[in-house]
Amino acid sequence: MTQSPHHQLRLGVNIDHVATIRNARGGRHPDPLRAAHLAVEAGADGITAHLREDRRHISDSDIARLKSELTRPLNLEMAATAEMVAIALRHVPNACCLVPERREERTTEGGLDVVGQKASLVPVVADLKSAGIRVSLFIEPDIRAIETAAALGADIVELHTGAYCEHAAADDAKGTASEVDRLAKAASAAAAHGLEVHAGHGLTFNTVAALARMPEIVELNIGHFLIGEAIFGGLHAAVRRMRALMDEARFKASGRISA
Ligand code: PXP
Repeated sequence: MTQSPHHQLRLGVNIDHVATIRNARGGRHPDPLRAAHLAVEAGADGITAHLREDRRHISDSDIARLKSELTRPLNLEMAATAEMVAIALRHVPNACCLVPERREERTTEGGLDVVGQKASLVPVVADLKSAGIRVSLFIEPDIRAIETAAALGADIVELHTGAYCEHAAADDAKGTASEVDRLAKAASAAAAHGLEVHAGHGLTFNTVAALARMPEIVELNIGHFLIGEAIFGGLHAAVRRMRALMDEARFKASGRISA
């Protein structure tokens, strides 16, 4: 049997913060679609975008363009609201990941409060699933949340890795180890409940390996760090090109003047 080149661990690249930079000027550059194509070229298996109620980064037309132009699955992150469900049903992304948007929808750690919101999530999950959209719930690595996600009929849980990444960033070895343990237990519990297991939030080059080692996890969604890191990977080349264009234009102009 041949194994996939990625050994079945998919990478979803979240392009929200390309749109954050674009929106800082209100124009079209940088275009999140171009970033999505580049990410796919570089090995991303899918693209994730979060359409927020306030449209602070990704816009409705970004979602339409992603859906029509992408060659890989689109994972639409959204709040479990009637407005967002209607948008999802219009575009039919491969998957919808339900995330909290308002304080009352989230747990103290930041995952969707599936236990407290269970009744209101039932029709949302049903509507999305009946349109053939895979439903993912972004939850903390907690057994009650996992049981509730399974009872709701979700296809996927995305485990919130924020607490783990915060401990790691603070060089708190004990806290980091305990969060890794919690995530590993949650991943195996979720898989035992028949849920597909994803994870994400705040992952970096330094924190990704611990998650990549967990056999039940099949997809990691990573955004903010990658877009930030792309500045450092790309700024050198962008400045050099600008320098060259300036120098070339000045050189040619001065040649014309003296000729
Ligand atoms: N997964 C979910 C459900 C998210 O909401 C986010 C942030 O939009 C991510 C993953 C990616 O997190 P980050 O941008 O910190 O990598």
